Amino acid sequence: MQGEHPHIKARSEMYPRSNVRRFPVPDDKVPWSVPFPEYQPVYYTSKSVLDQPAWADREDILNGRVPEWNKVDGAINRCSHMGIYTLDPETKLPRNPIGRTGIIGRGCLGRWGPNHAADPIVTRWKLDEQGKPELDEEGKKIAQFISIKRGDCNEWAIPGGMVDAEEVITYTMRREFGEEALNSMEVPECEKEKIAYSVDKLFKNGVEVYRGYVDDPRNTDNAWMETVAMNFHDADGSGVAQFKLTAGDDAVGVQWLDLHHEISLYASHKDFLKKVADHLKASW
Ligand code: BGC
Repeated sequence: MQGEHPHIKARSEMYPRSNVRRFPVPDDKVPWSVPFPEYQPVYYTSKSVLDQPAWADREDILNGRVPEWNKVDGAINRCSHMGIYTLDPETKLPRNPIGRTGIIGRGCLGRWGPNHAADPIVTRWKLDEQGKPELDEEGKKIAQFISIKRGDCNEWAIPGGMVDAEEVITYTMRREFGEEALNSMEVPECEKEKIAYSVDKLFKNGVEVYRGYVDDPRNTDNAWMETVAMNFHDADGSGVAQFKLTAGDDAVGVQWLDLHHEISLYASHKDFLKKVADHLKASW
């Protein structure tokens, strides 16, 4: 997500999990439309990507059959939510639609061009001891969402993940929620079926709150993150809302967190939650 300050995380000095330093790009030089003759971006593609796992493109992707940029290319979705992206006039590789990042290559992202993620935001109303919705100073109800602790950076986050080839986005959301949130919950075997039923039911009625580019620290001039974020709200509290997650228990790694403007979360997740709060007319 961009807002007024394009590429904040995507220009952070050190590239994540590396000792690669980005070429510094001043605020006004982010857009490609602004000339920047001194620009000498650093090339970086991580070893894990060069080893070419199933989720990654070939490094020499232009050698041989040229990929169908801006199209669904076989099993791979190379379309951007931001419209048509252009190719770098010299390298003929996709060009970041927002602008410069100080790095060329793919960093630790698998795809040249857009890398698609999906973020399920599962919410309920916070209740007081009598089971009535708790209100803030303005009389607004407080919403809570299911948050997981990410293993890679220890930050609290929405249980999102990458869209696999040929996968429908709502399916990715259901799968990631299952893998990341439900699997880390301690539930007795006999409860599992009931839980799966409530989750399936809830995931039938999602509301999209964001679709587009994400200002992610892994972005480069040639590869970037995009996501679709959807809200699944258990309005009457009869299903998922009843899952008991141990608040603040690090060992568990999953908890209900209040939507609040001071929350600190991974990547652009706070922006998505603000949109959920607006949509639910909840406290923020
Ligand atoms: C995460 C998503 C996040 C996206 C963009 C993905 O790796 O799983 O939750 O929105 O990156 O930052």
